[in-house]
Amino acid sequence: MRISDRPIAAQLKELGVELVPCASMVEKTYLGIGGTTDILELRKHETIPDVIHLLKQEGIPYRLLGGGSNLLVADGELSFVALHLPTSQPGMRVEGNVAYVDAAADLGGTVTFCAKHDLGGMEGLIGVPGSIGGALRMNAGAYGTQIGTHVREVEMYRAATGKIEKLEGADIRFDYRHTSFAPDDLMLRVKLELPSKPFKEILAGIKVCNEKRRSSQPLNQKSAGCIFKNPQGGSAGRMIDELGLKGHHVGDATVSDRHANFFVNKGSASCSEMLQLIDDVRERVRKAYGVDLENEVIVWKN
Ligand code: EPU
Repeated sequence: MRISDRPIAAQLKELGVELVPCASMVEKTYLGIGGTTDILELRKHETIPDVIHLLKQEGIPYRLLGGGSNLLVADGELSFVALHLPTSQPGMRVEGNVAYVDAAADLGGTVTFCAKHDLGGMEGLIGVPGSIGGALRMNAGAYGTQIGTHVREVEMYRAATGKIEKLEGADIRFDYRHTSFAPDDLMLRVKLELPSKPFKEILAGIKVCNEKRRSSQPLNQKSAGCIFKNPQGGSAGRMIDELGLKGHHVGDATVSDRHANFFVNKGSASCSEMLQLIDDVRERVRKAYGVDLENEVIVWKN
């Protein structure tokens, strides 16, 4: 969607928004799939309510783009613009056992930054790609760690009120890859409380998780991590593997040889090919196991 040549562009600029015209989602997502749209870089947190109010007034649909690590975007010209928070440096600070981190900060970078301040508890999240904002929204987790456990407060643009608000950690529900945030709530900053641990000990934990991940996941290929959530008490990856579907593909959209719940883009897969592969695998699992797998990957359809 192009708005850079419309009168609203000047109003957005006054609100401190930087417009990136015709950005390609191929470059903004880990899957390397998706069409084009204008991206609005939200440089001033305090003007976000006005920016969103303006977009609504003008009838311009929008989506919130985080790190792009868990996202499958439609092909072609998109029918919405994407809002994005630019990264500020360093975007995080520590006070005692508490870390204040900007939503745009890198999740892995946050884990190591906290480790250097002898704050642990997030070792399992080390190789999880993406931003802190995305991790909060999805309650990112791995190797027994979930970010929600450590959240004490979230500063956010709250869609329900149209205002920037602070929510206590206790008032937010963090479930398996799901939270009580509304889809159009925009995370701005988080306060994490973390246990004290010597840097060396944290580093040892990080190494173990890195090795586990390297040996079981296709880290050097274009993917969105796991495509499906695990069904209760089961493993989507194991079921897909048992059905002999590793290597199964639609065009360049391929079930990874390394981990069957990772679908990789081997070259120039389109969104429709990836969606076909997802539907096909879901159907085969349903037929064989009677289990309806739920997407873990976020899909932006047009
Ligand atoms: N397995 C297979 N074949 C495969 C993949 C897995 O047989 O191709 C088996 C494994 O041998 C193991 C079981 O399935 O016995 C579970 O596999 P794994 O330990 O790799 O964990 P997972 O349940 O597939 C989850 C998360 C990952 C996270 C890992 C490590 C989900 C959907 N996936 O994977 O998160 O990194 O545990 O904690 O919850 C993600 O969220 O995108 C993601 C990749």
